Amino acid sequence: MCWGLDNRLNRIIKQDNRTVMLAVDHGYFLGPTTGLEVPKKTIEPLLPYADSLMLTRGILRTSVDSDTSVPIVLRVSGGNSILSKELSDEDITVSMEEAIRLNVSAVALSIYVGSEYEHRTIVNLSKLVDEGEKYGIPVLAVTAVGREMIRDAKYLGLCCRIAAEMGAHFVKTYYCEDFEKVVKNCPVPVVIAGGKKTPEKDALNLAFDAVSHGATGVDMGRNIFQSENPVAMIKAVRAIVHENASVDDAYKLFKGLEKEQNK
Ligand code: 5RP
Repeated sequence: MCWGLDNRLNRIIKQDNRTVMLAVDHGYFLGPTTGLEVPKKTIEPLLPYADSLMLTRGILRTSVDSDTSVPIVLRVSGGNSILSKELSDEDITVSMEEAIRLNVSAVALSIYVGSEYEHRTIVNLSKLVDEGEKYGIPVLAVTAVGREMIRDAKYLGLCCRIAAEMGAHFVKTYYCEDFEKVVKNCPVPVVIAGGKKTPEKDALNLAFDAVSHGATGVDMGRNIFQSENPVAMIKAVRAIVHENASVDDAYKLFKGLEKEQNK
């Protein structure tokens, strides 16, 4: 692997081989998502606790100070909306040159295995990897996005493996039963999305299950920024991912921080 690419990936995945990525890219097809109405307000207090920030170039330019040292994972696929008939109708929306100008540490693109535009999104992943390899920019493949997909180990394993075969340097997917099989069959690091907002303890459980079954970490959005106490929540997630805290201890930490904040 090229030194620059390796160096960028190492800025995202820390020395303990774990990472807490903060995903705030939802607006690229959902518009003003709850909790992200004013992105700067949401992002600023969370940034010190994020190992990287995943977002679009529009939100990066408008809502993140350029003196940040937090690695940026730039979403470079899109072209659809929540109103689109077919969510998989995505293409590459940002050039690699623009990603380099923005000094990002990685680029992210969704693949839609089993959907109408599967072929285009998978070929786009390969093309993006070619570009990334040229300039030393790692590529994150975001898998298994779709309304009607059954998110089991067989399907998620298929998605992650295809992403890795196309050359993705790390993969984002969903947690599922038998998750260790997904990880075992994928030769690159796997991080999980948090999914829809659930009670904090459930989200901490999800993070715990994921890392204890082989995930490199989380790329979590709504379960952090839609929490009543986003900073307390990201700190609790960090305790699980980086300190191997139990769910109970992480939840205690969350409640304690919440109490302090409400004093
Ligand atoms: C959408 C994405 C989002 O970043 C992702 O789903 C993570 O956020 P959440 O934890 O809210 O699910 O990549 O395609």
